[in-house]
Amino acid sequence: MYQIEVYGKASGKIAAVLKVQKYDLDKNLMDFLREKKLPIASSCAGKMQCKKCIINGFLLSCSVTLKEFLRNSSQPIDAQGDSNKFLITIDYL
Ligand code: FES
Repeated sequence: MYQIEVYGKASGKIAAVLKVQKYDLDKNLMDFLREKKLPIASSCAGKMQCKKCIINGFLLSCSVTLKEFLRNSSQPIDAQGDSNKFLITIDYL
């Protein structure tokens, strides 16, 4: 279905390659990333107050569903034009 590469800016490495299934689409993005064992920071439990869960430099991962993220993402990563691949960058990973 969809694939998300998670790039850690601090390490300069791909931290994870995640498969997104249809049943994941309505999940909160932060919750999904945490399910996949990625240490997404938070001190407000997803109430959009702490701003620690930022991905891609500006997006609060607690504020969107996977479906919204994929629909609005402007970061296709595949030069061959595979629109099912997406990139998430996390500064502290
Ligand atoms: S978890 Fe606090 S702003 Fe997203």
